[in-house]
Amino acid sequence: MPGTHGDQQTRRTQLSDLSNGYRASATIFSAIELGVFKALSNESKSADDLAADLDCSPRGLRILLDALTGLDLLLLDDVRYSLHGLADEFLCLGKHGYMGDILEHNVAMMKKWVHMAEVVRTDKPIQREKVRSPQELRSFILGMQNIAAGSAQQMVEFLDLTNIGRILDLAGGPGTYLHTLLHHLPAARGTVLDFPNVIDIALEQTEKEGLTDRVDFIRGDMFEVEYGGPWDLVIISNIIHSFDDSANRYLFSKAASSLDIGGFLLVKDFFLNENRTSPSDASLFSLNMLVATDSGRSYSWQECELWLAELGLKLIRRGRVGISSGMILAQKSE
Ligand SMILES: C[S@@+](CC[C@H](N)C(=O)[O-])C[C@H]1O[C@@H](n2cnc3c(N)ncnc32)[C@H](O)[C@@H]1O
Repeated sequence: MPGTHGDQQTRRTQLSDLSNGYRASATIFSAIELGVFKALSNESKSADDLAADLDCSPRGLRILLDALTGLDLLLLDDVRYSLHGLADEFLCLGKHGYMGDILEHNVAMMKKWVHMAEVVRTDKPIQREKVRSPQELRSFILGMQNIAAGSAQQMVEFLDLTNIGRILDLAGGPGTYLHTLLHHLPAARGTVLDFPNVIDIALEQTEKEGLTDRVDFIRGDMFEVEYGGPWDLVIISNIIHSFDDSANRYLFSKAASSLDIGGFLLVKDFFLNENRTSPSDASLFSLNMLVATDSGRSYSWQECELWLAELGLKLIRRGRVGISSGMILAQKSE
């Protein structure tokens, strides 16, 4: 039933807002790419001074700064701009909870999303062959740290930490989940497994956390190297969305073999409901993996639980992380 003219006008606006989301998004990403938030960390500046610092046109930068101010991310006082609101809280260099690295990584992702229609047509990801530059790798891995810093405490609360002494963080990136668990388990030790250039970053983060004497590292490809063990807990966080079913089944079976009897496998990811359409964060993330990987996507809770059950692991419980991620805990019994 068509509604009143007023109702229709409201719905027109809803569709415009939904489809024009890229404007706010591209405004923020342009500022990230140009270094606006970093340059305004801890000091206010005029558009002209900032334009000189960032090698931008004064006119272009001022229009960008005004739009960021309209988004409540900057404050304009006379002629000087400063960080404000969410930008002051999360994009100010050096502040606890910094999220600038993950936004830098998302700038690179946005440049792939622009080609989504072509990727959907061909099922070929964008520039899969391109190796990440050291700076891109750093933004990606520290971006994982930015995300995990907000969710690791929920992982601690979700787990029963009794009897956990040996932990493997498989493809652990910066190792943030392992670090947080070790801070709660003074007698435990852990290992981060990842590619050699990522382990360099994990090592640096481990030193920062003061945990060097309790963390070991395995540098290599998780499809090839031995996992060591036996482990009381293996964490597989934000990994399965990069691979197809058979690769994930293989990873799970390697991980399960490396567990001690009674040990736990913890899988964290964006999980979809059985119909694969919701929550929308997870179905949108599936597109992220379509554009960036050969065969990755978001999986449903049920798909992941089936792989675990097929290995004879006992499903213990599901949990939520933040608003869009989930965790599945499974245990090796015999
Ligand atoms: C999305 S990040 C997740 C990092 C970490 N688990 C977390 O949740 O914060 C994916 C990680 O998997 C690692 N990775 C991907 N393929 C791998 C492979 N074949 N062998 C080892 N590590 C791999 C990447 O280097 C990266 O650190």
